[in-house]
Amino acid sequence: MLHEEQTLGKVYDGRLMRRLLAYLAPYKMRVVISFVLVLAASALKLVGPILTKIVIDDYIAVGNLSGLSTIAAIYILALVLQFVVSYFQIYIMNMAGQRVLADMRGEIFSHLQKLQSSFFDRNPVGRLVTRVTTDVDALNELFTSGVVTIFGDIFMLLGIMGVLVYLDWKLALVTFAVLPALFVVTMIFKRRIRVVYRKVRTRVAMLNAFIQENIVGMQVVQLFGQEERKFGQYSELNRQHTEANIESILHYSIFYPVVEVLSAVAIGLIVWYGGGQLLLGTLTLGGFVAFIQYSEKFFRPISDLSEKFNILQGAMASSERIFTLLDTEVEIKTPAHIIAPGRDDGSIRFDNVSFAYEGEDWVLKDVDLTVRPGETVAVVGHTGAGKSTLTGLLMRLYDVQKGQVVVGGVDVRDWDLKKLRRQFGMVLQDVHLFSGTIASNIRLGDQTISNEAIAEAARIVNLDKWVATLPRGLDEKVAERGASMSAGQKQLVSFARALVHDPKILILDEATSNVDTHTEILVREALERLLENRTSIVIAHRLSTIQRADRIVVLHKGRVREVGTHQELLAERGIYYRLYQLQYKDQEIETPV
Ligand SMILES: Nc1ncnc2c1ncn2[C@@H]1O[C@H](COP(=O)(O)OP(=O)(O)O)[C@@H](O)[C@H]1O
Ligand SMILES: [Mg+2]
Repeated sequence: MLHEEQTLGKVYDGRLMRRLLAYLAPYKMRVVISFVLVLAASALKLVGPILTKIVIDDYIAVGNLSGLSTIAAIYILALVLQFVVSYFQIYIMNMAGQRVLADMRGEIFSHLQKLQSSFFDRNPVGRLVTRVTTDVDALNELFTSGVVTIFGDIFMLLGIMGVLVYLDWKLALVTFAVLPALFVVTMIFKRRIRVVYRKVRTRVAMLNAFIQENIVGMQVVQLFGQEERKFGQYSELNRQHTEANIESILHYSIFYPVVEVLSAVAIGLIVWYGGGQLLLGTLTLGGFVAFIQYSEKFFRPISDLSEKFNILQGAMASSERIFTLLDTEVEIKTPAHIIAPGRDDGSIRFDNVSFAYEGEDWVLKDVDLTVRPGETVAVVGHTGAGKSTLTGLLMRLYDVQKGQVVVGGVDVRDWDLKKLRRQFGMVLQDVHLFSGTIASNIRLGDQTISNEAIAEAARIVNLDKWVATLPRGLDEKVAERGASMSAGQKQLVSFARALVHDPKILILDEATSNVDTHTEILVREALERLLENRTSIVIAHRLSTIQRADRIVVLHKGRVREVGTHQELLAERGIYYRLYQLQYKDQEIETPV
């Protein structure tokens, strides 16, 4: 399994950084304020040791105790200020950060909504969900972990170095002697932890993908007794994940103590060399103490930097993936020059249409078909003949490679996409219900549809008797994905949905194949009412539906092979005749009318 998480990005990529920063533009003021506060906080951190030096040298050493309380007050003031400044800095920066993340999540989702079906054919759900969640979270870390304070840290390090050199440049140089060692240790750690970090991320992604797949397919796992095998696979992934995490902990558990030791060595050097200076009188006691205090402040930010680099790197990799998604071109969209249909009558024409999902694998070949306004056309054919594809092209889920699809006298590619799709009502074999009530699933957010219209539609499609048995009627909640409803009930809900939206053209794709015999009669009646006065394309499983159609089109291996009425086609003794013998004939015996 290849995971995009495996790519090892740069720690810093100017192009990505500029694009990320562009998201901060609307919150520019906040960022500037936060930046100023970061610098102020860092400067305030430098105050303490200086005050210590002043207290020791100018007051204690000379026995002047009267001014001590003033210095103490300044010291406390500096601490309080540092607290206040840091508070506002963190608050303001995080607020801006959260806004940016919300903007980004919004942008990703709205882009996903625009993308064409072929994109979703290629990209599994899990991967796309990761973009909106995990990858955005990686950017979140960028803000919350205080990577932004990197600037403040660097500023403070430079400040400390400046003050140390100012206090005693020789002692400063001695103190800095450990820096090369620290640098080397940090570089080694950084390189190692980068690899481990990637390992952790990849394994988290693999674990997530596995969990998702198995939860969705839990029934299959249970029905086929695959629990143990799947648990074995899971345990292995789980183990690898734990291993990677332990490895990372191991690195940290070595790195931080080493930094501690180096910091202790630096202090040792200060004591050793500075002690001598102190005795010689070239360094004051206050300066000596301040040196030690500063050097303590010096090492922590340095060791933190490597951690921050990791977060930065993770954020870079994530933003790269997010931007790749955002840059995916929307191929199917409303054209610049829309042609409004002159006669918006629900007529359909396929003009010599050839279509392939991929390359030259033609799924439809030279299809010519005209459906007159108000006509009902049944499409029959073996599984994989291209029936569903035909309807997908009508609504422009995909674009044809050859010929044209014409709705209401205008090529679908010249339509306003939203308007085009509003022409259609679609009832599929698998009904997708959203969380909400039965009524909200019929209305689908169209507030112009009244409650009465919904009740009426429910009645027309024979949903009312079942609804009457529910405690809350149409306002009954559907469990997620309608798991608590039978296929037939869901089907009727989708009929009601199509009916209230009153589409010009109705498409039924094997809409009645899932229905239990009990509901069959209800569905058949509902269907009759639904098809009235409407252009309809019916991909049918039920003989009754097919017989009722004005014309039957036989699709075979992507070609239209026969067109006619039930009787005509039977008389032809061709493909339809054989299909009838195989699939449809027995239905009359199963469900006598
Ligand atoms: N999204 C898709 N990507 C690639 N190939 C597809 C896709 N959908 C369907 N096909 C292929 O196109 C052919 C026709 O499929 P379809 O129109 O669904 O047939 P039918 O509805 O008649 O059973 C099949 O060979 C199927 O494998
Ligand atoms: Mg199909």
